[in-house]
Amino acid sequence: MVSEHAAQVLVASNRGPVSYTLREDGSLDARRGGGGLVSGLSAIGQGADSLWVCAALGDGDREAVRRGTGEPGVRMLDIDAGVHADAYNGIANSVLWFVHHMLYQTPLEPAFDAEFRRQWAAYETYNRAFADALAAEAAPGAVVLVQDYHLCLVPGMLRELRPDLRIGHFSHTPWAPVDYFRLLPDDIARQLLRGLLGADRVAFLTRRWADAFAACAVDVLGDGALDGTALGVHGLGADADFLRARSQRQDVEEWLVRLRERVGAGRRTVVRVDRTELSKNIVRGLLAYRQLLTDRPEWRGRVVHIAFAYPSRQDLAVYRDYTASVRRLAEEINAAYGTDDWQPVLLELDDDFARSLAAYRMADVALVNPIRDGMNLVAKEVPVVSDEGCALVLSREAGAYEELGEDAIVVNPYDVMATADALHEALVMEPQERTERTKRLAAAATALPPAAWFLDQLAALASE
Ligand code: G6P
Repeated sequence: MVSEHAAQVLVASNRGPVSYTLREDGSLDARRGGGGLVSGLSAIGQGADSLWVCAALGDGDREAVRRGTGEPGVRMLDIDAGVHADAYNGIANSVLWFVHHMLYQTPLEPAFDAEFRRQWAAYETYNRAFADALAAEAAPGAVVLVQDYHLCLVPGMLRELRPDLRIGHFSHTPWAPVDYFRLLPDDIARQLLRGLLGADRVAFLTRRWADAFAACAVDVLGDGALDGTALGVHGLGADADFLRARSQRQDVEEWLVRLRERVGAGRRTVVRVDRTELSKNIVRGLLAYRQLLTDRPEWRGRVVHIAFAYPSRQDLAVYRDYTASVRRLAEEINAAYGTDDWQPVLLELDDDFARSLAAYRMADVALVNPIRDGMNLVAKEVPVVSDEGCALVLSREAGAYEELGEDAIVVNPYDVMATADALHEALVMEPQERTERTKRLAAAATALPPAAWFLDQLAALASE
């Protein structure tokens, strides 16, 4: 795809488009990642002047930086490992992620103590490293798109260093409501907001998150806080072309056969695919499924819950504990209800994209019940690749609800009983209705594919 965009484009994010692992023989194995930003950036065209600035995340990445063997168009920053751990695990994942997803158990947490202040200093150092690198790399008048809660301070820092740049920031997460955001110490809340408002434009996945941000900015910084910064909303959609082609490949077909065998002939499936992420609400999903089997014995032996929960942020004890709870509950359900020829829950904790696509294709019901979620692409991907139509049980707290709410069965993610009822309703939906709803869901889910999503942001930034 060719765009009319002429200026140099820089993207800044913690995790880059490529990662390296060090093989035993000392060579480096490069693995390219997927996702909206990768396909978005490729939309500005081959040969266009672009640079992706990201952090070196492990020994392999650091070695690649030392050897200078990086990919063209990617600059990895070799930030001190301790600084990175404090900024990423300590502040980004344990504070900012928790605030925006409202995950604290507030009688005990948070406690913004000396350790927090130490980690905050690392977060500043880490953001400073990005701002310095961007300032050094950007051509005059370049466009810089800064991503997510890892890099909230970068726009303000960069604005001071390089007032000539057009700076955008995009949040892929929700934004907390005012009262929750104000759990943060006042000076930190101010610093975060001022950092972001250093951008010409700050953008979000839904109107709800953009409004929450604006409310926080005015509450903390006062009237006029938003002057000089535009607010945008770009609801990232599913990449239909990629998904449809990928889901027809041989490895997916093979998984389909295997999964069908494991489920057993004639049984319905309730499918969920997530990172084992606290905000995804996997435990309440399992509780709801157990409630369904308890309240409606007619489903025993006739439905299987396929739950793929891929490892995530395992450096954090709270994530490891959560993974253990998911595993325990799945085992309890299987022990309580399973029979010789029926396993009620198929839980898999190792990541396999082809297997996920096979589960998407065969799902009768997709369960997407996050506590809070910036968008949730699973809700958008399943209808696109579904073979025979799939009923979607969707949390009203997912960003995707704004676009898909009408054709989904909508739940309050905390309400286990209502979620169990929603699963039943989804399982008994008439095939024709299911097919029609799936078509409408797929159309809404693909309204703004990654390339258009990215180009829209560039166009808006150029015109504001
Ligand atoms: C999810 C969120 C993104 C975030 C990413 C980081 O995909 O939607 O907002 O940037 O997680 O994940 P990581 O594995 O790098 O911590």
